[in-house]
Amino acid sequence: MVKKLKITILVDNKPAPGFMNDWGFSAFIEADEHKILFDADTNPKVVKYNIEKLKIDISKTEFAVLSHHHHDHYGGFEYIGKIIPGLKLYVPPGSVEMYRRWSLEPIVNERTKEVLKDIYIIGPLEAWENFYEEAIAVKVDGKGIVLIVGCSHPGADNLAFEARNKIGQDIYHILGGFHKPSRTVIDNLAKFSKHISPAHCSGDEAQEYTKRIYPDKFYDLRTGTILEY
Ligand SMILES: [Fe+2]
Ligand SMILES: [Fe+2]
Repeated sequence: MVKKLKITILVDNKPAPGFMNDWGFSAFIEADEHKILFDADTNPKVVKYNIEKLKIDISKTEFAVLSHHHHDHYGGFEYIGKIIPGLKLYVPPGSVEMYRRWSLEPIVNERTKEVLKDIYIIGPLEAWENFYEEAIAVKVDGKGIVLIVGCSHPGADNLAFEARNKIGQDIYHILGGFHKPSRTVIDNLAKFSKHISPAHCSGDEAQEYTKRIYPDKFYDLRTGTILEY
């Protein structure tokens, strides 16, 4: 079990004073001694600025995970490749040429797997024909699964079901983009998730619904938010 988990939101759609932001998502994960980058926002300049502002030593990143091949999640990897050439980047099925051009080492992930002890890549799940998305889950000692999602095109609840089925624990916290989910998706998540943070592309309606119906579960996120478990 991971004893100490820290997640720093490098970029989210929601701004915060002192940071740059845009439409995108990126999170830096520190699970015990492991440092992992999940998604890299749209804009190399925005990611660079916020990483420096947060005083994160990004060169210590062990590997990165891309949720899906959309620009608002991979754009900033151009900068990451310059700082850490040869960095392993787990990606769902799709074209990987560009990541190679950016000096990264893409690894196409085919199914849910434990990449490090108690750290899982969830999926890829198919969102539509030949378009896939994956997420990252960390099993935290005494709490449960912390699940970070990118855009949730296959459904945030489906990614959470997959995490829960494969790992065998409830969700302690699900955070990231839920892509304008229906109320049913939020209700499904609420059945087995302690904390819910609809961020990035989730939309105001999903945020307001979660806050209103599940006030004890809702946790607001924005650029620069630091979560410690
Ligand atoms: Fe997105
Ligand atoms: Fe997307």
